[in-house]
Amino acid sequence: MISDEKILITGGAGFIGSNMANLLSGSNSVTVLDDFSGGTLKNLVERSDKNDLKIMRGDIRNRDFFQKLDDDYDLVVHLAANSDVRAGSEDTETDMQINVIGTHNVLEFMRKKDIKQILFSSSSTVYGEADIIPTPENYGPELPISLYGASKLANEGYLWSYYHYYGIRPLIFRFANVVGRNSTHGVIHDFVLKLQKNHQELEILGDGSQEKSYIHVDDCINAMLHVYENSEKGDIINLGNDQRTSVTTIAKMLCQEMGLKDVKFKYTGGVEGRGWKGDVKVAQLSTEKIRKYGYVNRLNSDESVRLAVKEIYGQMVH
Ligand SMILES: NC(=O)c1ccc[n+]([C@@H]2O[C@H](COP(=O)([O-])OP(=O)(O)OC[C@H]3O[C@@H](n4cnc5c(N)ncnc54)[C@H](O)[C@@H]3O)[C@@H](O)[C@H]2O)c1
Repeated sequence: MISDEKILITGGAGFIGSNMANLLSGSNSVTVLDDFSGGTLKNLVERSDKNDLKIMRGDIRNRDFFQKLDDDYDLVVHLAANSDVRAGSEDTETDMQINVIGTHNVLEFMRKKDIKQILFSSSSTVYGEADIIPTPENYGPELPISLYGASKLANEGYLWSYYHYYGIRPLIFRFANVVGRNSTHGVIHDFVLKLQKNHQELEILGDGSQEKSYIHVDDCINAMLHVYENSEKGDIINLGNDQRTSVTTIAKMLCQEMGLKDVKFKYTGGVEGRGWKGDVKVAQLSTEKIRKYGYVNRLNSDESVRLAVKEIYGQMVH
């Protein structure tokens, strides 16, 4: 585990960011930069006096804000983003402003302050509807079907160009579906809210056969840090699992956890069976590359979902 580094985590109060900040702040000096549009201070509960954690409230869209930050970070973990894939089908500005312009501002800050390492959260959505599954990192052409996916692909291009021009080494991680404690959105979260309102019936977007591969947040952040510690070049790495879990399976696991029997699942049918326009029906990433780096997930897809269901439901009722 890395230690004694000075690390800036953008989006550090959000789901993945808070798990990363809580893990790293015991042995590193960590600054969380977040506008708290999605993240919360509560996520950083493990913060204590012995942990070295500083919190800066700010918006990555505001370039001037970066002047308030220190200039001697060893590493930037850039997670701040509009993380709601669905939003882009209604509002075409959000992904552009937060994800594209925001990431450009982060890179400009790094260039000016001569910070040379960045871990970036990209997404399986860059592949669009890949016809090779499990999808390897060198799959192409990448044709995203959401503005969110398009913004992440643009981000990757910027990161790679800053590597080429200025030597800022990017480790670009294309996440599958990450699940676990502190999650603020996503299928498990949505289902808990719906079932809390109505114990008898659960509305499921799409036709229920959508299947994705899920990775637990602990595996996600440990894999990122493993690659950071064991490589010297920039790279693009998928982070997912070798199995898939359907939305109906997730609904069943949650009903079991909540002690609910005979819940009627009502499928909306969605758009061609997808949950929403821009939703990819079947997604699974090749994990060959991350395994070559020597990282093997602790939990498979179903196990990740099962643990996340416990964690998320537990947090939502307490
Ligand atoms: N969770 C997943 O399954 C998944 C999958 C693929 C990629 N990702 C990417 O991983 C990263 C983290 O995702 P997450 O699931 O933790 O989402 P999240 O929404 O919980 O975290 C994002 C954080 O960024 C902050 N933020 C948003 N806009 C900001 C702005 N303009 N300035 C400063 N902070 C801002 C939010 O307050 C939040 O704390 C995102 O880049 C997301 O796109 C997540």
